Amino acid sequence: MSKVLFAAKPQAWDDYEHPLSDAFAKAGLSVDLSRSHAAAETDYIVFAPNGPLRDFAPYVKAKAVLSLWAGVETIVGNPTLTQPLCRLVDPGLTRGMVEWVTGHVLRHHLGMDAHILGQDGIWRDGISPPLAAERPVTLLGIGALGAACGQALAALGFAVTGWSRQPKDVANLRCLHGADGLQEALRDAQVVVTLLPQTADTQNILNARTLALLAKGAFVINPGRGPLIDDEALLAALDSGQIAHATLDVFRREPLPVDHPFWAHPRVTVTPHIAATTRPATAARIIAENVRRGEAGLPFLNVVDRQLGY
Ligand SMILES: NC(=O)c1ccc[n+]([C@@H]2O[C@H](COP(=O)([O-])OP(=O)(O)OC[C@H]3O[C@@H](n4cnc5c(N)ncnc54)[C@H](OP(=O)(O)O)[C@@H]3O)[C@@H](O)[C@H]2O)c1
Repeated sequence: MSKVLFAAKPQAWDDYEHPLSDAFAKAGLSVDLSRSHAAAETDYIVFAPNGPLRDFAPYVKAKAVLSLWAGVETIVGNPTLTQPLCRLVDPGLTRGMVEWVTGHVLRHHLGMDAHILGQDGIWRDGISPPLAAERPVTLLGIGALGAACGQALAALGFAVTGWSRQPKDVANLRCLHGADGLQEALRDAQVVVTLLPQTADTQNILNARTLALLAKGAFVINPGRGPLIDDEALLAALDSGQIAHATLDVFRREPLPVDHPFWAHPRVTVTPHIAATTRPATAARIIAENVRRGEAGLPFLNVVDRQLGY
């Protein structure tokens, strides 16, 4: 019987205990799932960064650390972590991100705010938004989340460009990569969506220079991580009109401090890191599949590259 330690925040136990137990049973696994296994006897660690576990060194027998989060920037550099680290690619989380990104892109594309916030008795007809095909959208990051968002936006008719580190081929997307590709991906884009991991290479990827490449009056949508954006550069670009609106879900400090200028800015929308949450039922199946693989001696899914940081 495999001993699986649940090391997320205590409140999450109620959400995950049954989905994980069910998923282990459906995968034909014999698992003892607990919040209190002795470190030296633990076979797998189901982990979330907001849980209690910081020191992985005593888990000498653990075959893998299975993250409940997609982003691993707070754990990937932990020097006590020697076990394989698997990040989460959860179909439920992916669908949630597709819905959040699509909703916010459509909000800006259709100019919904003008009608929702400006209902003043004046009949302003004769103004219609361009069609999606006339609205270039760029996704920085076309991994599990970015590629799914890109395909949904392309299915709506948007002209979608995706940018990654390595060359990629994602159906219905113009795919670019690397430093040269970044310039081309951003040039004249009217919407940019950042779905990159937080690494040394992606810090401040949206800065004064790269924001200036976008079309005048572009929209920035960041559900990736706060440090992807140089906050001061974004505020300057908003004030100059280079950026018409920024919809931000993630921040350098979370919760976003009450005195941060983003809160009060009339052309910034703040959402509290809710773009896409892990869905226990679908996530549990992925965790169970990785335990099954570990027990069968097969390679784990979604192993993080420590050097790359994602
Ligand atoms: N706000 C929320 O609720 C929420 C929820 C979940 C996740 N997230 C964030 O979303 C991020 C993306 O998740 P994911 O599952 O899609 O990750 P992923 O599958 O690892 O995809 C990451 C993408 O970023 C690209 N990339 C990484 N470093 C790069 C670099 N230096 N230059 C160019 N491209 C680079 C990768 O390129 P390659 O394809 O070439 O490797 C890949 O396309 C997570 O790391 C997390 O921070 C936010």
